[in-house]
Amino acid sequence: MSEELKLSVLNKLETEGSIADTKTAFADVSAETILGALKSLESQEKVTYKTLTTEVWTIESEGQDMLENGSYEARIFDAVPAGEQGIPVAELSAKFGKIASLGQGTGFKNKWIKKNGSNIVRLVDSIVDQVKVDLETVKATGGHTSSDVIKDLKRRRLIKPNKTFSYAVSKGTDFSTEIKKQATDLTVEMLQSGAWKNSEFKKFNFDSLGVSPNGGHLHPLMKVREEFRQIFFEMGFEEMPTNNFVDSSFWNFDALFVPQQHAARDLQDTFFLKDPAVANELPAFWETVRDVHEKGGYGSIGYRYPWSIEEAKRLVLRTHTTAVSSNVLNKLAKEPYRPAKYFSIDRVYRNEAVDATHLAEFHQVEGVIADKNMSLGSLIAFLDIFFQKMGITNLRFKPTYNPYTEPSMEIFSWHDGFKKWVEIGNSGMFRPEMLRPLGLEEGVQVAGFGLSLERPTMIKYGVDNIRALVGHKVDLGMVQSNPACRLDKKMGKEVFQPTA
Ligand code: PHE
Repeated sequence: MSEELKLSVLNKLETEGSIADTKTAFADVSAETILGALKSLESQEKVTYKTLTTEVWTIESEGQDMLENGSYEARIFDAVPAGEQGIPVAELSAKFGKIASLGQGTGFKNKWIKKNGSNIVRLVDSIVDQVKVDLETVKATGGHTSSDVIKDLKRRRLIKPNKTFSYAVSKGTDFSTEIKKQATDLTVEMLQSGAWKNSEFKKFNFDSLGVSPNGGHLHPLMKVREEFRQIFFEMGFEEMPTNNFVDSSFWNFDALFVPQQHAARDLQDTFFLKDPAVANELPAFWETVRDVHEKGGYGSIGYRYPWSIEEAKRLVLRTHTTAVSSNVLNKLAKEPYRPAKYFSIDRVYRNEAVDATHLAEFHQVEGVIADKNMSLGSLIAFLDIFFQKMGITNLRFKPTYNPYTEPSMEIFSWHDGFKKWVEIGNSGMFRPEMLRPLGLEEGVQVAGFGLSLERPTMIKYGVDNIRALVGHKVDLGMVQSNPACRLDKKMGKEVFQPTA
């Protein structure tokens, strides 16, 4: 198609000098097709063109109905018989539905009909359906000489404005009526034969938009997780395997010295599994765990309640990744002693009411450090460095209670946006009541801390509703277009200064 069209454009220019408006010169060719041909000719400098915009009025569906069947008022008039009697309003309504009252209203205004009791009677013998006539004019010419008519038809939503485009074309600097096939590439053959000298080359279109690459996309949470992982790795941590989303209450609670009456073990807080409901077996040291709950040991008097193995066997969706840490510490204790640092970042589950900042499943970032001669001071010093690496320099600690750590500290950081101290994590020194039954020898202390992955991600990406970040309401476009996460890590010397 296009070669032919291009040639006829060039021929017309040759005979007429210019084309004032392609709409009249090429009435049966669509504007897009014309534009395609003109762009191609323009790139060869054979033509130049200007875009002409015309406002035209097109008929809306109601207007189309009137073109075919007459205006509502005309239809009503036609339905009213001549004479005193007229027609009952109810009959018109039954016959015309909602059109009846619209048509009557305009009919009254035009003084075509009037009301006589509950009947409608004619005031004139015949009418001219001017609306239909006007619509026919608009349809044929795209407008009307009377702006009042246009205004009225538009007000009645019978017509709407539309723009059409056409083009004024003149000869270009390289005008000719012949179209040479343009070469797109300079080839070896052209160089060898010398044909390149007489070839016309197709111009590069530097304005064309490239195809946007559609590779893989990481969810913002996974981007922040990656940043955290790198911080852990550069601080010498090993990653714990976290693919056990279901675990026994034993690992999730009992081995962590969480008493069986603890509120966290309620149905309201924890998801218990129905099928299977219980673990097949517990690790051999369950009796030591039972004893420390019931009677104490390692300097503790225990909780002094009858510990139930059935309760310990109940399967749960893990409520924290400390369930994983206890398991890994137990494995560590089976090896000859070595200091160790472990971390994990994965999902945990809590039976919580979902709101703008809470989900029933979220990600926990957790670290544990096992070493000799560790104190609360070592943990504080470590946390200072760890959070500095994320650009968080101002920490405060507040005493708190965890069944498995003593002392325990909530970690707060100053939030410049909120202008207040916000809790960013929980931490503590694991109790001997937990560590000794796991098999860790006396003199080995373990410090631990945990935080959510969602909170820093929301702050980093400026998301204030967690449901915009996780779950079925996530906009996949957001996942594609958000930037890589770069925590404002402080890499200064002071960060790497060894702490005593
Ligand atoms: N398990 C704690 C929580 O869920 C975090 C924590 C881990 C606290 C390790 C102390 C030590 O909040």
